[in-house]
Amino acid sequence: MTTEGDEPTMSVAEMLAMVEAVMLADDDVEQGEITRLAVLEADHPDPEARLPVGEVRSILTQMASADGDEEDEEAQLIRRLIDQHLASTGSDSAEDLGHKEGTTSDTSSTEDASSPKHDDSSGAATTDDDPFDPTANLPDSTRDLVIKGQAHMWVRDLDLRYGSAQALYDVSLPIERNAVTALIGPSGCGKSTLLRCLNRMNDLISVCKVDGDIDLVNTRISGAGADLVSIRRRVGMVFQKPNPFPKSIYDNVAYGVRLHYNPSRRELDRIVEAALRRAAIWDEVSDRLHELGTSLSGGQQQRLCIARTIAVEPEVILMDEPCSALDPIATAKIEELILELKEHFTVVIVTHSMSQAQRLSDYTGFMYLGRMVEFGCTEQIFSEPREELTRRYISGRFG
Ligand SMILES: Nc1ncnc2c1ncn2[C@@H]1O[C@H](COP(=O)(O)OP(=O)(O)OP(=O)(O)O)[C@@H](O)[C@H]1O
Ligand SMILES: [Mg+2]
Repeated sequence: MTTEGDEPTMSVAEMLAMVEAVMLADDDVEQGEITRLAVLEADHPDPEARLPVGEVRSILTQMASADGDEEDEEAQLIRRLIDQHLASTGSDSAEDLGHKEGTTSDTSSTEDASSPKHDDSSGAATTDDDPFDPTANLPDSTRDLVIKGQAHMWVRDLDLRYGSAQALYDVSLPIERNAVTALIGPSGCGKSTLLRCLNRMNDLISVCKVDGDIDLVNTRISGAGADLVSIRRRVGMVFQKPNPFPKSIYDNVAYGVRLHYNPSRRELDRIVEAALRRAAIWDEVSDRLHELGTSLSGGQQQRLCIARTIAVEPEVILMDEPCSALDPIATAKIEELILELKEHFTVVIVTHSMSQAQRLSDYTGFMYLGRMVEFGCTEQIFSEPREELTRRYISGRFG
């Protein structure tokens, strides 16, 4: 994505996607930031127009600097995101692993007609020099999933450090397509850290260093060279605290869609309505679409955030304790919704509630001190755990 011999360029859509990633990671986006974003969008109405990277750097740094005290941190973050983007677009052209001869992973067959519509391997990293053995280090019970080609993502041998502190050790697991996978374990064991690796949100943390492989179908999404904009669209995230942007209900849902697809107004209306319906909130907001998303109740805000996530048609949805800030009625609604979502999406959920993991999930991973102690079918984990540590945790004897 560079002009040969000249300064590299970046599309307006790519620039706005970076701003979106920073906003999503911030659980308290302020009105001023939205206003500056609106000005930026108005100044650059064509999402496909290309800008020299130097100009993007200066536009985004100015935006970050307008905030005052967080100036350095945000400006640094933007510099890093731009560098990562350059690394990814400067990498070799994308090729599907499944189309490569000698690739051990026979996963291309899993991209069937029922798969979500994005086959976005453009700009993706490949595993040319490292024949992928997705079954390495997986427990026997789950190795089968990978061999049968039902897994949607694989994590293999993942180590993660925050500065000098190691937070994940040699974590491997498959994530089955159209199923709910729950991550459980005591506070600080690395659940959120692992979840954030699955759509590269950890890249927003400057001290974070990751080793190991993560694949999304036939695309290597870990390491330098992965297309972060595409990964974050294919793997959406819902956070613990509902974090709608201080925009209208309609614009909360429409934002990512405009960014990634540039639809007509009519098409956008249709997508927004469909996402709000799928997130089971349409009936409550259809007559107030132009009110602020932040004016809704906590449970409604969380369903709005789910609508925002599914509107861009991701393949995988990551949820980090999505009900922990909600009352029991709102929790029940979200749980019901998650069970419906797995018909169309692959879901990974972090939860502290053993009963929620049992009610919702098909597979459960129990983590302790940064390690995946046990991973298997939820029924097996809760009825006949293989590890004594798992047994003690699920029976409430430590934690
Ligand atoms: N941004 C960060 N910078 C440095 N260390 C971090 C960061 N985020 C998490 N950690 C550390 O990594 C380890 C794992 O944290 P993580 O948030 O993944 O745990 P968790 O299992 O999600 O916990 P909880 O159930 O309390 O949410 C902890 O020791 C934590 O202090
Ligand atoms: Mg957490």
